[in-house]
Amino acid sequence: MASPQVIIIGSGLSGLSLSIFLTRLIPTATIKIYEVRPSTHPSTTGTINLTPNALRVLDHLGIYKSLIPQGFNFDNLTMLNHQFDFLASIPIAGVSEFEYQSLRIERRIVHSALLEKVQGQPQVEIIYDAKCESVEESDSTVTVRFTNGTSATGDILIACDGIHSTVRKSFVKDPKDFDPKYTGQISVGGNITKAQIQEYNLKNNPYPMMMFGPEAGKGASFMVWPYNHDGDQFTFFTTLSKPDEEKDWKEFSDKQKLKDIMQETFLSEDSPWNEMVKKTVELSDVDSYRFWPFYLHSIPEKFYSEKARIVLIGDAAHAMPPSGGQGAAMAFEDAETLAYSLAGVLSTESSLGTPQGLEIMSKWSEHRIARMKTIQELNRRMADMRKGSTGSTSGVMFTVKVWAIWVLGLLGVLGRTRRAINNYDANKEAVGWLGEATIGKLE
Ligand SMILES: Cc1cc2nc3c(=O)[nH]c(=O)nc-3n(C[C@H](O)[C@H](O)[C@H](O)COP(=O)(O)OP(=O)(O)OC[C@H]3O[C@@H](n4cnc5c(N)ncnc54)[C@H](O)[C@@H]3O)c2cc1C
Ligand SMILES: *[C@@H]1O[C@H](CO)[C@@H](O)[C@H](O)[C@H]1NC(C)=O
Ligand SMILES: *[C@@H]1O[C@H](CO)[C@@H](O)[C@H](O)[C@H]1NC(C)=O
Repeated sequence: MASPQVIIIGSGLSGLSLSIFLTRLIPTATIKIYEVRPSTHPSTTGTINLTPNALRVLDHLGIYKSLIPQGFNFDNLTMLNHQFDFLASIPIAGVSEFEYQSLRIERRIVHSALLEKVQGQPQVEIIYDAKCESVEESDSTVTVRFTNGTSATGDILIACDGIHSTVRKSFVKDPKDFDPKYTGQISVGGNITKAQIQEYNLKNNPYPMMMFGPEAGKGASFMVWPYNHDGDQFTFFTTLSKPDEEKDWKEFSDKQKLKDIMQETFLSEDSPWNEMVKKTVELSDVDSYRFWPFYLHSIPEKFYSEKARIVLIGDAAHAMPPSGGQGAAMAFEDAETLAYSLAGVLSTESSLGTPQGLEIMSKWSEHRIARMKTIQELNRRMADMRKGSTGSTSGVMFTVKVWAIWVLGLLGVLGRTRRAINNYDANKEAVGWLGEATIGKLE
């Protein structure tokens, strides 16, 4: 295909990174990104943690080094119980073992670094205020319809439109089966400064900290996590159980209500929590509060359509609970591996509709589904931890020894999974289904 016309729906983390890889690997492509948000607010807010596998992709994109001074770089996560007793320090990243530290950073900083790269590429155009309504493929083209009644046509369309993906709906056989489902859990949190709470960090434990509560009903876990380079601005959050789904979650946009929920949970008369947690909630600025309900959807059998002209990546393909902190990382890995695959498809004799083209897409998709399984294992463990020690262990959990054994038991599993997660290198993996020769040509 001489000059493929690529359509990307969504300019989130996956859409932007994919477009940058494509400009490099398929220089003749023209790329149009359609985004529902207005150009004045292109990104969502909050902070994210990026593990070495995510940072490796950002390094390949040439933006990692610029992010280092803009976020909090760390290796270890300190685990404590509700009484502030030290349980363990988990090495979750580090240059010597994984090539990279971990980085917690404001999401908008990552987004704008990607956006800046995209804006330097003449073959990419971003169209804002563009809401995709449906997509449709034929043997030789793919068409997207927008809510204003117009449409656009290209050779291939990549859905990067997040967990509530519209494209996924037009692409799977039984859309209802793939609707996002509420998980019964919400995350609530806000910001605090080190200056406000350091005096309550009695043993000067290193940040970030993850604290576990003895009973899920009184708050299962509490994180305190720096997100700027000097490590003096913190974000804090907890996961709470909330069985009933709200229709539009409008009530939860009331920040005072969010702070009230945190106060009821952590500052009640019989709260088992330490002073550090109590003071964090008490002293935090109400305007800094944020909230997220957790949704999940079933993962389709494959991430591309019958004729492979529609492809899903990122949350549109496989949204996951934030507990494992791997959603953005998977979106980045998807983008890089897909870019190699598409370049492979288009650079050989094969092209999209041919058996060779379909085979590459099928191998890519299978590889990514296998990768999802590894990540889900980590997510399950982390979610169990965040939910807290309900059931048989409750009560017993007041002794430090039992706590420590419980945490160390998890560490064995997490350690093995951690290496598989952190050391993933899209470039090396893609050799598996494209071959050395193709990857060599692409570099
Ligand atoms: C509370 C919370 C904390 C998280 N923390 C972490 C973390 O620490 N580490 C981590 O790796 N991941 C984390 N994640 C997950 C991570 O944010 C997502 O996995 C990641 O943003 C997925 O990227 P994406 O590009 O697929 O989707 P998104 O970033 O959601 O982007 C989708 C884009 O598509 C646009 N769009 C949607 N519908 C349409 C439409 N119909 N037409 C046009 N455009 C459309 C949206 O406006 C958006 O810009 C967290 C998620 C949550 C909710
Ligand atoms: C993480 O922990 C290890 C082992 O205790 C220690 O050697 C290392 O210095 C720590 N890393 C950082 C950045 O504090
Ligand atoms: C309809 O939306 C598309 C995508 O945002 C845009 O390119 C086009 O200009 C819009 N057309 C009209 C008539 O509003």
